[in-house]
Amino acid sequence: MDIDDIEQITVLGAGTMGHGIAEVAALAGYEVVLRDINDDLVTEGYEEIEWSLGKLAEKERISDEVAETTLERIRPVVDIEEATANTDVVIEAIVEDMDIKQEVYADLSEAAPEDAIFASNTSSLSITDLSEATDRPEQFCGMHFFNPPVRMELVEVIRGEHTSDETMDTVVDLAESFDKTPVRVRKDKPGFIVNSILVPLMNEACWLVESDTATIAEVDSTTKYDMGMPMGAFELGDQVGNDVTLHVLEYMHDVLGDVYEPCPLLQRYVENDRLGKKTGEGFYDYENGGADVPADQTSDEVRERLLATLANETGKLIEKEVAPPADIDEAVKLGAAFPSGPAKQCDEAGLDGLLGKLETLHEETGAARYEASDGLRTAAADGGFYADDGEDGNDEDRAGPTSSTRSVSSTPARWSGRSSSTGPTSSTRSISNSSRSSSRHSTRSRPTTTCGQSS
Ligand code: CAA
Repeated sequence: MDIDDIEQITVLGAGTMGHGIAEVAALAGYEVVLRDINDDLVTEGYEEIEWSLGKLAEKERISDEVAETTLERIRPVVDIEEATANTDVVIEAIVEDMDIKQEVYADLSEAAPEDAIFASNTSSLSITDLSEATDRPEQFCGMHFFNPPVRMELVEVIRGEHTSDETMDTVVDLAESFDKTPVRVRKDKPGFIVNSILVPLMNEACWLVESDTATIAEVDSTTKYDMGMPMGAFELGDQVGNDVTLHVLEYMHDVLGDVYEPCPLLQRYVENDRLGKKTGEGFYDYENGGADVPADQTSDEVRERLLATLANETGKLIEKEVAPPADIDEAVKLGAAFPSGPAKQCDEAGLDGLLGKLETLHEETGAARYEASDGLRTAAADGGFYADDGEDGNDEDRAGPTSSTRSVSSTPARWSGRSSSTGPTSSTRSISNSSRSSSRHSTRSRPTTTCGQSS
């Protein structure tokens, strides 16, 4: 299957991510089938898309006409055979349960055309294991979007053990045709790149509060107004869904051990159905004003603890060769709208100090999460995550020839020779809309939209 062969996309699951992905695909000009297990769920998802398109039009990100034609491209369906009979790509965004997903993939294998590609939006589950539940493991990969899909620019494209090069290339092209920036994830590791950084960060935020070291207001004030994240850590947790964060963490805990022991605070919020925006209440009350993050409660201790967590997790991704520092920074900046990537931020803060902080915390608490990773120790000894490669993580160093064109990924020296984060023909691409009119999909009517880019 080539990108030019793709006309119809089926999205399985009409929840937050599923309907968001369906909206992105329809905005890109594809015919989209949105499928869920009953009429109520699929209708709810469809109405959410209608709301979102209305909002984008209200904010003048798209025209009213584009909002209307985009909605017309989406067909809500319940029957799985009807949903997949003529499809080219199935993007699965159903409940994060391996058994349920495997059952659905077995049905899907029977219903979908032989050459259709299957891509899973799982936040963390093994792409290899999922692919083995299908009749086409080589036509299977991860395609991980970020919440809200219509606003976040990143898509992680994850290679499972059986994924063919052709499938990876087509899905990378597909993500680009969605006006997203794909980053190839080279190892099928729980959490991939961005959740491997964000989820432990969220867990540490919870431990700070659980241990009475800081309040939710202090953590959010620090993350938003000192570290420059677009939302406070707890505000982000509410946006993502506390059940989703806990699920990823539990999976990382199962597969990778006690380092990822979930904080009881997070577990209590989930047990009490305080899941975040979607249930009206999480760490903040969305029926009564929502998140109100104070600008004046920043804390040096919170900043240091969270940066130490970022440094440790960045070290693990590099040590395990999941991605080099430049790709990690790129992915986190695009997937979570960080102003600066974790490798660069931690280099600037000083890896020696952050390593010392982890060692002190480990001595004081004995908790596995404070064991410093080899990747961090090596980078600290080298003088920084970028020191070895003659890079300092400055965006300017990676800028393309014009202001509207930038390199998606520069591959540091020690990674050269391995495949870069983007395909061989797409190491540099424009993110401006004008360039997209000459894309492979020039025959499909494409609305002009900036909504795929995070602000
Ligand atoms: N469609 C359309 N509009 C939407 C929307 C959607 N899906 N979601 C929110 N909006 C609207 C809001 O209703 C709001 O409208 P009003 O002002 O009328 O109330 C408006 O968008 C807010 O947008 P702004 O541009 O004014 O606000 P902002 O600059 O704060 O941007 C944001 C919002 C893009 C969400 C930004 O806060 C951000 O980037 N946050 C970080 C989100 C993030 O990190 N996501 C990744 C999470 S991890 C993940 O998803 C992976 C996983 O597997 C769990």
